[in-house]
Formats: sequence, structure tokens, C-alpha cells
Amino acid sequence: MQINPYIFILPRTPDQIVWDYKNHKQFELNFEYSTRLAHLIDNPEKFDDNNIIDTQLLNAGILTTSIQAPLEWGWDELSKIFHIGTKNIPCEYVPQDINEWSRHYLDHCAEVLATPAPEARLTERPTSERIALPPPSCLPQSALAKILIDRKTCRSFTGEGVSLDDVGTLIYFSLGYLRERDNDIDETIAEGLGARRSSPSGGGLNACEGFLHVQNVSGLNPGLYAYHPDEHALSFVNPVPDSPLGQLLCGQHFINNLPVGLFITARFDKLWWKYEHSRAYRMAYVEAGHISQTFQLVATALGLSTWLTGALADDQIETLLGIEDSAEQPLFFVGCGQSDGQVMCKELKALLSSRGSQQ
Ligand SMILES: Cc1cc2nc3c(=O)[nH]c(=O)nc-3n(C[C@H](O)[C@H](O)[C@H](O)COP(=O)(O)O)c2cc1C
Repeated sequence: MQINPYIFILPRTPDQIVWDYKNHKQFELNFEYSTRLAHLIDNPEKFDDNNIIDTQLLNAGILTTSIQAPLEWGWDELSKIFHIGTKNIPCEYVPQDINEWSRHYLDHCAEVLATPAPEARLTERPTSERIALPPPSCLPQSALAKILIDRKTCRSFTGEGVSLDDVGTLIYFSLGYLRERDNDIDETIAEGLGARRSSPSGGGLNACEGFLHVQNVSGLNPGLYAYHPDEHALSFVNPVPDSPLGQLLCGQHFINNLPVGLFITARFDKLWWKYEHSRAYRMAYVEAGHISQTFQLVATALGLSTWLTGALADDQIETLLGIEDSAEQPLFFVGCGQSDGQVMCKELKALLSSRGSQQ
């Protein structure tokens, strides 16, 4: 017998809250149950089949008979609990098609909007005088200003293919190690950490990596491909699954025909190698956010529309990328393609107007 390695215990007088953070379950143990658990933590061999509390603790999964290989984790327990505890969140149900998703999403919005919105931020309170700033005057005519203004999230793609040239440009400027910066000299940089991207990287580690999800790119078979930023090359990892892309992205089926997307992953082992404190876990997301924004700006410059999400079916995606149970974890997804530029898919629009006309 073993204690489930993925639990933590919170004191909440008069009970103990036992939280199974991997399976997303919580239990409240009273004094009698807590005391018995304390005995079993001291010596799991004292498990007694005839003791009803013991069997209940086993059935609840607080005790386990299966020996689980411990996950490799280089930071402290706090970040591990956060990481695993926010992973594979059980959805009440994953919409199976675009119409189900539209109904579900509108119901969710109605539920949220029925509750009061958070208060205005401190700086919006009419306490201090405002200092008006000059309007942006240096950028407006530039290409960069146009790209910044044109970038927007679209949810209605045509499915049309993207050229391999565009994919090469997109990924080089999002994740590639810039050959143009090969000659940057910085004596403080350790050997092997000199590569630089268009986006900044925590500690210069380039802890983020990327996998392309290809559905319709000229000259590339559909599949998942790992990107090698030093060689600016791809390697095939897996075919695309039979289920639609939206199924991997928590039922967001409006995205099923997206021609190309990028799963951004983070190599936690690189981060904990240089930064021992688990605060570095936050940096992984900040870095992924920079890369995602760069991807979107480059795609916009190429005349493509963009979409992004952090709603991932984590385990399924890890398997698809061939990185299951490793120190490399998927964090975010960003994709692009031709679109009619609409923020909402047509199914959601139709539902919205039919509900509106019923009121
Ligand atoms: C961290 C993050 C997560 C997001 N997740 C989703 C998502 O799951 N699905 C979606 O349709 N849009 C998602 N978005 C897009 C936002 O809804 C969108 O950026 C926002 O509505 C503002 O619109 P804009 O991007 O056109 O300026 C996400 C954006 C960010 C930054």
C-alpha cells in the first residue's frame, strides 16, 4: 500500500482537506479519518482490509496499490502542484461539433454576464488628474503600425492552404535562431546559449520549442512536425489524428479547418537548470506569450488571419507531440490561415440572432 503521491493536505479547522490534485478531487476528513490517515502515512503497511476507514481511503484514491513512477520535477512542490493541478482539467463535457460548441459558449457567456463585472481598476477611479498623452505620431504610416492595428483574433477560416514559403517565414521569425545575429558578441554568454530569436527569452535559454500542426500546407503532408530552430528545418513526428483539431482544443470546433498551427512547448528542465526557484515557472508562460504574439504579427504581415488558445487537452497533445510525461510541456497554441475576418463563426452568429429574435 502507498499514499497517493499526488495529494496535499490543508488544515481547515475542524477538518483536513485532502486534495488529489492530479485527479482533481477533494475530500474533507474529520478528526477520526485524519488520525487514521496520519497512522497510514507513518506506515502504509498498517493498512487493514477490515478497517472501513482504510478501505474508504483506498476507494477514494488517497491510498493506492499501484506503484507510480514519480514525475521528473526540478522545482519545488508548489509549482508541481500548480502545474499538475491545472492540467487535464475535466471538462463537464467537450462539445462534439460546432453547433454544440456555439450553444455551450453562449450559455456560458449568459451565465457570466448575469453576475456583476469586476470593479473598475484603481487607476480608473476619479481621484487623480489625467495627464493627456500625445497621439501616436511616429508609427502610424509604418508597416509595423499597420500590422499592430490589423492583428485580430478570427474564428472563421476558409480552410485554404498556406504556402510552404509563408510557413518558413512564419516559423523562422517566431522560433528560428536568427542567422542575422550569429555574430552578436557577448562574452558573458555561456557556450551553447548564444542563439537568439526575434522574441526575448528568459535567461537566453530558448526554453520554448514549437511543433507545427499541418493540415493544409503546400508541399507538406498533414501531420505534426517538430521545428529545429538551429537548422531551420522540420522533422515529422506523427500523423494528424482522425478526430478534428477542435477536439484537442477543448471542443472549439470552429477551428477544425485551420490550415496550420503551432503548439508552443516549454522545456522546464532548461529553466530549472538555470533558475532553481519555481518562480521561473511563470517565465515559461511569459516567453510563450512573446512567441505567440510574434507569430501573430508575422502571420498578419503575410496577409493571414490568426487565432490562439491555451485550452489544450494536455495528455492527448503530449502524446501527439511525442513528449508525454517529460520535462517538455505544451503551453499554448497559435494558428493562422485565410479567413473572412470574422470574430465569430457563422454558427454562433446564427444562434445569437435566433436567440435574440426569441426575446
Ligand atoms: C492567453 C489567451 C488565451 C486565449 N484563449 C482563447 C481561446 O481559447 N479561444 C478563443 O477563441 N480565443 C482565445 N483568445 C483570444 C481572445 O479572445 C482575444 O484575444 C480577445 O477577445 C481580444 O480580441 P483580439 O485578439 O481580436 O484583439 C485568447 C487570448 C489570449 C491572450
